[in-house]
Amino acid sequence: MTTTVLTGISELTTNVASGDDPCGTIVDAAVVIRDGRVAWTGRRDDLPHHDVTEDEHHDLAGRAVLPGFVDSHTHLVFGGDRADEFEARMRGVPYAAGGIRRTVAATRAATEEELRERLRALVAELHRQGTTTFEIKTGYALTVDGEERLARLAREVTEEVTFLGAHVVPPEWDEDRAGYVETVCTTMLDAVRPHARWIDVFCETGAFTAEEGERILRAGIGAGLLPRVHGNQLSAGPGVALAVAVGAASVDHCTYLSDDDVALLAASSTVATLLPGVEFSTRQPYPDARRLIDAGVTVALASDCNPGSSFTSSLPLMIALAVREMGMTPAEAVWAATAGGARALRRDDVGHLGAGARADLVVLDAPTRVHLAYRPGVPLVQAVYADGVRRV
Ligand code: NIG
Ligand code: FE
Repeated sequence: MTTTVLTGISELTTNVASGDDPCGTIVDAAVVIRDGRVAWTGRRDDLPHHDVTEDEHHDLAGRAVLPGFVDSHTHLVFGGDRADEFEARMRGVPYAAGGIRRTVAATRAATEEELRERLRALVAELHRQGTTTFEIKTGYALTVDGEERLARLAREVTEEVTFLGAHVVPPEWDEDRAGYVETVCTTMLDAVRPHARWIDVFCETGAFTAEEGERILRAGIGAGLLPRVHGNQLSAGPGVALAVAVGAASVDHCTYLSDDDVALLAASSTVATLLPGVEFSTRQPYPDARRLIDAGVTVALASDCNPGSSFTSSLPLMIALAVREMGMTPAEAVWAATAGGARALRRDDVGHLGAGARADLVVLDAPTRVHLAYRPGVPLVQAVYADGVRRV
């Protein structure tokens, strides 16, 4: 049995709700980690005596600690990049779903080793910025073997793998959309299923209709996958209604929402996952997190790390944007990037530091979590523990 004790924590965010503080904040705190799990959290002065003879003791000298970030939405396995598109957008060219096909071509052309190497570099990038749990979607191959390859590679680095064969219709199926949808629901699903936990559809003009999306999600559910949806990114549309109708864990983007969408989300257990890196990188208006939270919707923040609409893996940046541009308080934004992400992945072992949780935590070179938004762009992550082991 190995025990690690962290003391000198100026502010500990546990996300174990206490009174009217959903972040379960403890000041002058200590954490005891035993065999990769959180064994105890509390005020330093209340630290049980027998825990002071630990194997390892670190005095964090007045730093803030929070749960490792949970990035519930990424597309980390791909070839090439689209910096030229970003540059054009910054000159005024609008974002459209069609750019996905360029990454599909580059991904199909890449070798497995090239994809693995890029993926591993991105995972290291996530870790350095405090992300300890992350989801990865397929969706840049769009052939049976290609989607299987992406899911298999993703499964090497995370349990949270999502089948996104319904990202766009690939060019070779332009004359036969129905045939592509049928393939996604049958042979492609069968090939990807062994590696995946989730199924997703991009429900948007230029991608898939609500009817196509529902058919694909129901096929996935029938095969034992859990549904999630990309919706309401580029326009108000049927994504939210589809997500709620199939009992999706999350509907992601939620940039354009009607009052009915907000009411549907508030009455459901579907999380609204907001991806402000997309609005930053596409010059779209930011989603209105305040409106969602005030209506009682559970909100998560994620990076959507992908080469087209949001090539960033930084949850600290998402927190800063959410606070500055989306009406969230720093506490709400930190909760959304940790506990919110865990809800969006239906996980209760991460996103909080209650007793028994995975000892995934971030140490900030700052006295409080507010600094994540107050000091945007500054690399404040000083240390990262995953399963109780220091990784960064
Ligand atoms: O989440 N919305 C669909 N898929 C990605 C965009 C991918 C791309 O442009 O390559 C997203 O924004
Ligand atoms: Fe996405």
